[in-house]
Amino acid sequence: MGKALIIGAGGVGSVVVHKCCQVPEVFEEICIASRTLEKCEALKNKLEGTTKTKIHTAKVDADNTQEVIDLINRFKPDIVINVALPYQDLSIMDACLATGVHYLDTANYEPPETAKFEYKWQWAYREKYEKAGITAVLGCGFDPGVTGVFCAYAQKHYFDEIHYIDILDANAGDHGYPFATNFNPEINIREVTAKGRYYENGQWVETEPLEIKKVYDFPQIGPKNMYLMYHEELESLAVNIKGVKRIRFFMTFSDSYLTHLRVLQNVGMTSIEPIEFQGQKIVPLQFLKAVLPDPATLGPRTKGKTNIGCIIQGVKDGKPRAYYVYNVCDHQEAYRETGAQAVSYTTGVPAMIGAMMVLKGIWKKPGVYNVEEFDPDPFMEALNKYGLPWHEDFSPTLVD
Ligand SMILES: NC(=O)c1ccc[n+]([C@@H]2O[C@H](COP(=O)([O-])OP(=O)(O)OC[C@H]3O[C@@H](n4cnc5c(N)ncnc54)[C@H](OP(=O)(O)O)[C@@H]3O)[C@@H](O)[C@H]2O)c1
Repeated sequence: MGKALIIGAGGVGSVVVHKCCQVPEVFEEICIASRTLEKCEALKNKLEGTTKTKIHTAKVDADNTQEVIDLINRFKPDIVINVALPYQDLSIMDACLATGVHYLDTANYEPPETAKFEYKWQWAYREKYEKAGITAVLGCGFDPGVTGVFCAYAQKHYFDEIHYIDILDANAGDHGYPFATNFNPEINIREVTAKGRYYENGQWVETEPLEIKKVYDFPQIGPKNMYLMYHEELESLAVNIKGVKRIRFFMTFSDSYLTHLRVLQNVGMTSIEPIEFQGQKIVPLQFLKAVLPDPATLGPRTKGKTNIGCIIQGVKDGKPRAYYVYNVCDHQEAYRETGAQAVSYTTGVPAMIGAMMVLKGIWKKPGVYNVEEFDPDPFMEALNKYGLPWHEDFSPTLVD
């Protein structure tokens, strides 16, 4: 059916590659590309011979639009799946625009020098993508991604009006390290140390970082401390779920993780301001990333489960209704299947499914879209089929 260029060969990229290879009738050929060719080759060597998908590799620096354009012209993909870092979103979107190729990512653009993610930079491509007749699917991991599809599904099938959305992201995985991040440390720490923010009655309410703490008893995981954070899907859902009054996002963190983070912050190791070190400029957070365990190596060590889902409240046929839809993913099972733990797995599977939706023409419309703007049904069906089955609860415990 088609060809996909996958940029990024880290934890998430590895899962995308494994999953594409499980659907060779859709992904006839893939090209795995990153700055380090060996990472791409290692994935190719692992999978070649186990799949009908033809695997290519390439070296590319995706910060350089011309390099991406040249690669696209050589490989001629139908879609680019961007699972590099958020910093590369715009240069890859530019390359797709120049070559008329569809685009998909899992995290929204963030300028390297300011820890601030917003959709405005990518939404600004809407008209250009419409004119070029190509589709960009933004934020198609789990959160953002599946959480938006969950909301669209709830809206379509269970509610006349949605009033409150709480997105709950629990990771009860234990990798045995006192401190490590489950995905790219730089991106993860920038996100966690940022101020909290939620949407209420048409306004954004700001909190101090991790100021609001609650306990929730997660299905299949048990009670966990969770903290209110800003997360990018809040921005698009506030626009796309009409009439919503409040949207919040909560993530669980262990006490050990938070204690280490506090110390690292206090000593300045999480700063993104460059400092002079032995005659050279270094960014403390990037140095910290270099000494922390590589998330891609956590797979074999991580045990336990993740539970990510949405608790939605609103009205159906004049009556109040509550609905909880969530997925539980087991770190060890994810690792056995793809060599990556559940955080990479829950991101990579939806990225593959989103690309499949575009290649099959189901989610193909010219322009730039967030996932909740498409028909959720075929995506929900694919989640059950490709490793992320979901559960529904019509009388959930609510977050106070
Ligand atoms: N939506 C969600 O649910 C969700 C959840 C987790 C993660 N994410 C996102 O998923 C993405 C990947 O995360 P990850 O954990 O896989 O990160 P990772 O392990 O650090 O992998 C990033 C990959 O991108 C490549 N890369 C970095 N800069 C590049 C450049 N300039 N040109 C080409 N390749 C480049 C890296 O390889 P080289 O350094 O060799 O180039 C590496 O292979 C991130 O954007 C993250 O924010 C989304």
